[in-house]
Amino acid sequence: MKLSVIGCGYLGAVHAASMTSLGHDVVGIDVDESKIASLRAGRAPFFEPGLSAILESGLASGRLAFSTDIAEAADADVHFIAVGTPQRRGAYAADLTYVDAAVAALVPMLRPGVLVVGKSTVPIGTAAGLADQIRETGAELAWNPEFLREGFAVQDTVTPDRLVYGVPEGESGVAARATLDRVYRDAVAAGTPVVVTDYATAELVKVAANAFLATKISFINAMAEISEVVGADVTHLADAIGHDARIGRRFLNAGVGFGGGCLPKDIRAFVARAEELGRGESVAFLTQVDAINRRRRDRVVELALAAVGGEPHRARVAVLGLAFKPDSDDVRDSPALDVAVRLHGLGVDVVATDPEAVPNARRLHPQLSFTAAPEDALQGADAVVLVTEWPEYRALDPVIVGGLVRNRTIIDGRNVLDPAAWRAAGWTYRGMGRP
Ligand code: UDX
Repeated sequence: MKLSVIGCGYLGAVHAASMTSLGHDVVGIDVDESKIASLRAGRAPFFEPGLSAILESGLASGRLAFSTDIAEAADADVHFIAVGTPQRRGAYAADLTYVDAAVAALVPMLRPGVLVVGKSTVPIGTAAGLADQIRETGAELAWNPEFLREGFAVQDTVTPDRLVYGVPEGESGVAARATLDRVYRDAVAAGTPVVVTDYATAELVKVAANAFLATKISFINAMAEISEVVGADVTHLADAIGHDARIGRRFLNAGVGFGGGCLPKDIRAFVARAEELGRGESVAFLTQVDAINRRRRDRVVELALAAVGGEPHRARVAVLGLAFKPDSDDVRDSPALDVAVRLHGLGVDVVATDPEAVPNARRLHPQLSFTAAPEDALQGADAVVLVTEWPEYRALDPVIVGGLVRNRTIIDGRNVLDPAAWRAAGWTYRGMGRP
């Protein structure tokens, strides 16, 4: 099939390259010239395992192209909208400028038989409005939310755990479903569950899934707060309740909390939309979820200050990790970067490191000291703060690290180190919700 993908950020670039790997002809469109130049050269504009390989093979096959000119998308049978929906400046609601611009640019080239597929995360009710805008062209609209996780984006796109199609009622809905089944032929043939529903449900599925995941993380972080008061161990608690199959152990890792380009902004936009719909009370708990999450960052800062004897101006602190999670260079709403910035703001001599995210972090906060080499960050540190659980940080040897630092105190903001091993090597170990 001939596909276009409008918007080549995390979602769109991965989607475009993945669709080529499934055998389709794809053109990716973005207004950002440097992003398009990089994609054309086979370079992923961000760190995502596996993406460069499918970009290179897609470009070599001649079935993958990128352009800043939307006219290049004119002959596609299916147009995917994969533009960003960031948090609106000074508000909780989502900014739909890019979605509206993409649809406005597509409308003149739509014709009967063409399908527009929304993938961006949007406030409930957006798809119905867009369907009205394209109706006259004879093209159809489907809403097909994306659940990809950064770090696993290619795998999640090529072999998703479920497919959700929001389609209109009647004949056009049947046709839209058939088209999407052809797009995702391999996944459908492999028995991937397909949920066919209306627009509003498809939009709600996405925000509900992210709200649930955020709630699960904040739930365990709330238990960490209680554990800190009573001397309990939240990691044992998570293991114990996680054995109940109804609860499940995944996404029950207490620590410095969630960040990234999705969970934080999506729960805030959900609250804003529910309030507009007169149902603010239904999701008011998400405001608490957000507050618990932010308090975890305060806690790490508090532990770090205590570790340097409450004297930030004399202290050097190594911050291990800047990305919002491992296998990513994404620092959007990153708890790790936030902790580094706040410690620096309090007068601490912060040296931050990350295997991938230093350039992005430096662009946003040039006032911090960065290094790509963890040894340089650790050298002479009065305290060490681990805030992104990269495998190389989990594997640090407490004896070797002990030889680099000035003072053996570590704050494990992700609860990934073995407290016994670190204590045995002479360290003061502080976890999150652990005695
Ligand atoms: C998320 C959703 O998982 C994905 O389905 C959706 O499409 C986009 O948003 P992503 O932002 O890539 O994906 O990250 P995810 O793996 O969900 O992690 C989000 C944050 O939660 C990270 O900062 C991570 O460190 C944190 N987290 C995750 C925890 O603090 N504890 C956990 O147990 C799990």
